[in-house]
Order: sequence, then C-alpha cells, then structure tokens
Amino acid sequence: MFDNWEDLEKSIIDCKKCKLCTGRQNIVFGTGNKNAKLMFIGEGPGADEDRLGEPFVGRAGKLMNLAFKAIGLNREEVYIANIVKCRPPGNRNPEEDECEACMNYLRNQVILVKPEIIVLLGSVALKHILGKEYGITASRGKWVEKKGIKYMPTWHPAALLRDETKKIDFVNDLLLVMKELNNKSDSLT
Ligand code: URA
Ligand code: SF4
Repeated sequence: MFDNWEDLEKSIIDCKKCKLCTGRQNIVFGTGNKNAKLMFIGEGPGADEDRLGEPFVGRAGKLMNLAFKAIGLNREEVYIANIVKCRPPGNRNPEEDECEACMNYLRNQVILVKPEIIVLLGSVALKHILGKEYGITASRGKWVEKKGIKYMPTWHPAALLRDETKKIDFVNDLLLVMKELNNKSDSLT
C-alpha cells in the first residue's frame, strides 16, 4: 500500500498483473476529487473509457451524468473508479482472477480518498467489495455499513440503458445518498 497518490499512480503505469493488460489502450485509473466524501465504484472500462483513459465517459457515463445533474450532484466533486482498470474484451464481465489481481489498487484508492460513502454500481462492484453473498436486486437502495464506511448498492448505469424502469430506482438511491451527505455536512468535500 502507498501512502500517497504519486507512488500509487506510478505503480500501475506498466501493470501486467492480469491478462487484461494485453488488450488495453489505456489504464483507466480513476478520476475526480481525491478528498471526496463520496466515491463511486463501477465494474471496468468499456471501449470509450479505454480510448480516453477515464471512467464513465461512454453511454452509461453520460446517463450517470444526467442523473447527477438531476439531483444536483457535481461530477467533479466525487471520486470515480472501477474494480478493474483495464478493459475486458468485448465488454464481458471481469473474471475472478482479474478482479483479484486489480483490487489492491482500488483498496489503496479508497484508503487515500477516505470517503464516508461509497456507491457500488452494479453486481460486480457489490460482490467484490461487500461479498459474494450480496445480490444487487435485493441489496440496492439499502445501506450497508462496514468498517466506518457507508455503502449504497445500486444498479449499474448500463442496466438503465437496457431497462428504463430502473432509472427511477437509480435516482432514488442517489437521493438517499444526498440526504445522508446533507445530514453530515453542507459540503461534499
Ligand atoms: N462501466 C463501468 O463499469 N465503468 C466504466 O468506467 C464505464 C462503464
Ligand atoms: Fe493490472 Fe488491473 Fe490492468 Fe489487470 S486490470 S493489468 S491488474 S491494472
């Protein structure tokens, strides 16, 4: 574990710890406010993210931005990262060994950001952060507190593209998060 961002970022530059290294254009490390109280964790980069080196910049990300706007959340105020930092081929789910290999980077990111709240976007993030026994359908919209961090599992934004009816859940879950943040303080940072 590194106690500063510079060393952590340096440590990932040439990462070949899993087979996803062979297909990537860019490592998608994470983006946003490194002192945020609120962090979002997705699954892994898609084609657009791989091309640009930034998380959630494709269709799912644009929808997420719209939801943020609707609830008055500024994307720049939060920190956003993924379980795996390199794109799984054909947008398949990251495999177990790939998630295992990559998780230490994310753990280190969480330690450095020190968020109060983490939103888990979809099943892959939920299962790798909170445990395999969690299912997204039963868990979304419900707080889970673990080691001083409050977790809010919700749908992955790509799921909203496939099923419009999930949009209202997503916004409602984010509103719970905003309410909790506002209870704690007036500011996100
Ligand atoms: N889906 C994810 O899980 N992460 C991204 O960065 C983009 C799409
Ligand atoms: Fe390294 Fe993670 Fe990329 Fe695998 S996905 S090569 S562990 S940075």
